[in-house]
Amino acid sequence: APDRPLAGRHVLVTAGPTQEPIDPVRVIANRSSGKQGFAIAAAAAQAGARVTLVAGPVSLPTPGGVVRVDIETAEQMAAAVEAALPADVAIMVAAVADWKVDAAPAKLKKAAGPPQLRFSANPDILAMVGSHVERPQLLVGFAAETDELVAHAQSKRVAKGADWIVANDVSGDVMGAADNHVVLVTADGAEDWGPMPKTEVASALIGRIAGLLGKD
Ligand code: C5P
Repeated sequence: APDRPLAGRHVLVTAGPTQEPIDPVRVIANRSSGKQGFAIAAAAAQAGARVTLVAGPVSLPTPGGVVRVDIETAEQMAAAVEAALPADVAIMVAAVADWKVDAAPAKLKKAAGPPQLRFSANPDILAMVGSHVERPQLLVGFAAETDELVAHAQSKRVAKGADWIVANDVSGDVMGAADNHVVLVTADGAEDWGPMPKTEVASALIGRIAGLLGKD
């Protein structure tokens, strides 16, 4: 049906931050409300897709018709994403922590003074999916940038094996806000969508995907 253009398709979305434990009570995390990713998952479900939403710790309700998998760390997100494949479309919106900490097994004592944390790299989930044997037909990444938006997004697109990068300008007040300002970067170039609500970014993006993959 024209109102369910993604019927029969599986759309995989990551959203929110990851949390990397320092010890049993402390974490390092990214700033991400999860709003943009949850809005995309909701729009995909409304378009008729089967949606898997792999979500870091956020305080948002699960959109209707969406299967949600809650995770905390980047490694757990990578495993959940891999378990959710195959998918026709993957949209990686999560703000994944680039590094994990060598976590202490017991709570660090304040009296012992500030700890020296040892970091190591987390898996790049978008890049992993980009080179996966079950790579989705369409792979979309996000890129939060403060400068050189299009140039950085274009090199990220190529480096990670994504088809599209939705570059968002985070030089303003985007974190946790209702509005976003995005530029869609594809092999064909860059399209500035201007400032708009995150819900409208979601429906425009899903509309574009439906136009590409949809049957009616
Ligand atoms: O390199 P950068 O973190 O700016 O790339 C952002 C894009 O890569 C987003 O789509 C994000 O979800 C994804 N990403 C990922 N795994 C990481 C880091 C980023 O999937 N470890």
